[in-house]
Amino acid sequence: YLHQEEVVAHEFKDLIFSLPKENGWVASSLYKYQGFWHPIRHLQGIITCQRHFQAQDSDFILITTPKSGTTWLKAIVFTLMNRMQYPIVQYHPLLSKSPHDLVPFLEHRLYVDNQIPDLSSMNSPRLFATHIPFSSIPKSVQDSGCKIVYLCRNPKDTFVSMWQFSDKLRPREMGTRSLEETLDMFCRGVSIAGPFWDHVLLITFLSSLCPHKVLFLKYDDMIENPTVNLRCIADFLECPFSIEEEESGKVEEILKLCSFGNLSNLEINRTGKLSSGEENKVFFRQGKVGDWKNHLTIEMVEKLDRITEQKLRGSGLVL
Ligand code: A3P
Repeated sequence: YLHQEEVVAHEFKDLIFSLPKENGWVASSLYKYQGFWHPIRHLQGIITCQRHFQAQDSDFILITTPKSGTTWLKAIVFTLMNRMQYPIVQYHPLLSKSPHDLVPFLEHRLYVDNQIPDLSSMNSPRLFATHIPFSSIPKSVQDSGCKIVYLCRNPKDTFVSMWQFSDKLRPREMGTRSLEETLDMFCRGVSIAGPFWDHVLLITFLSSLCPHKVLFLKYDDMIENPTVNLRCIADFLECPFSIEEEESGKVEEILKLCSFGNLSNLEINRTGKLSSGEENKVFFRQGKVGDWKNHLTIEMVEKLDRITEQKLRGSGLVL
């Protein structure tokens, strides 16, 4: 992490080092590119992806805000789409691979470190994930008929989850960052793919204009009513559950396989690592709504609520 600035590819140097810069949450700095903040490695990935990724009409793209339940959504959509290929739970790929290995991130995995992957051998429909804000998404995603499933989460739990996550990833010698300091950064929009609210608002607008293109989901709703949301995803991705599947309990089976309790207890997710180096277990913490009550003071809650109210005013969106 410490040397990421030193390994910026020559072609990106002029652009990246002219951008506004702030201290990051983990070790690397954040740079403001097209209105959103990114660590340098992700940023190179975003720019490479903007230049080279060609979306196909049949692609499905999961766009999420960081710490909104991306890991869960990846597991669910992968299982849903591939349920004919992997009908038997005992042999399912999720039992031996992290959801992040099954559904790659565009900017953190496929296009990271200046790689330009050859995606021609992928079977369609192809499934990708990203935290790239819609305004920076590769143009072919906007222009093609590909479908987007968008996931976000209430800002207070998003913030707490992000704070805990970054604390785990921070090199020990850098010490911890206080909750106050981190909250201040989050509220100023200085967080990975932040400002959080702008990320969500961009998509809300698009999903209301083009409901066939974007399905807008909230983690909190998915936790409250997983079956309704899973059916909704299946309908949107044009792979609805048949009557036979409904009667045989397929919806519940997928939800059970992808549940926090099941995934977080698998050996692969307890002890495995991603190729990018992170331990799989850092993506599983509590998987609940409302943990913010255990961490935030009244003043912090007021501050976050005030910003959320200001940012979302007039949008019709409630987070
Ligand atoms: P908490 O830190 O609040 O527990 P992301 O996948 O976008 O990084 O988000 C991580 C958050 O999703 C964490 O929230 C994590 O515990 C939760 N999560 C991971 N897998 C989950 C699952 N299968 N079901 C519900 N929540 C899950």
